[in-house]
Amino acid sequence: MDAATITAPAVLILLGPPGAGKGTQARMLEDKFGLVQLSTGDLLRGAVAAGTEAGKAAKAVMEAGDLVSDGIVTAILRDRMAETDCAKGVILDGFPRTTVQAEALDGLLASTDQKINAAISLEVDDTEMVTRISGRYTCAGCGEGYHDTYKQPAEDGKCDKCGHTEFTRRADDNAETVASRLSAYHAQTAPLIDYYQAQGVLKGIDAMGQIDDIARDLQALVGDIMD
Ligand code: AP5
Repeated sequence: MDAATITAPAVLILLGPPGAGKGTQARMLEDKFGLVQLSTGDLLRGAVAAGTEAGKAAKAVMEAGDLVSDGIVTAILRDRMAETDCAKGVILDGFPRTTVQAEALDGLLASTDQKINAAISLEVDDTEMVTRISGRYTCAGCGEGYHDTYKQPAEDGKCDKCGHTEFTRRADDNAETVASRLSAYHAQTAPLIDYYQAQGVLKGIDAMGQIDDIARDLQALVGDIMD
């Protein structure tokens, strides 16, 4: 299965705690299947940087590692999904994160005659997530993600994708905030595994191995789902 063979707009959800690899794998799925990655974390960081009302409300919440209100996040996601490029199909990375958001997504998709093809849970151990997150950095030009140990650019200091030479680290990637983010995940997001199991769309994938091995397994799974 590749981009040329996808006929209906697909809706894929990637579930997993901070550091599970949602962003890393979503970008690879985007490249492989021609889908659009929608990361509510990226959308919120964009709103914070732009100084919008939503961004001002979200800033302190994100810095504390708590979840931004369902109303703000759902509105941002709904507006983004209405943009024309999303007609190609989307990979939701970091949304939904609460049952209220999942129900809002169901309503939004029903109103546009779409459905969830799969909610894929990236299964990982919490202990490794702190290591993954504390080593993360991102290309300031295109947003490609890297890691101090696990994923470095082929040429030192130069992004593989766009050639940019500046990189950033996220304000919430510190040990204290990671602990809050993990606990928010277990309290508010992990129950969505049962939610999507009940809808019959849940899939799981072992996400503790090497990035490329997980990508191979995930892309095979997505190919089967959309066949
Ligand atoms: P968000 O930006 O969504 O962050 P997150 O869920 O905490 O997830 P991360 O981006 O930290 O992890 P990831 O799974 O994408 O991992 P990555 O691929 O980068 O949210 C941030 C904040 O925004 C939230 O805390 C909340 O406040 C708010 N927010 C966002 N959405 C919201 C919502 N829906 N509702 C309410 N609030 C919301 O990988 C991590 C690192 O590990 C990278 O360096 C990568 O290179 C490396 N790596 C990846 N895979 C592997 C591997 N297999 N082996 C080794 N290293 C790996």
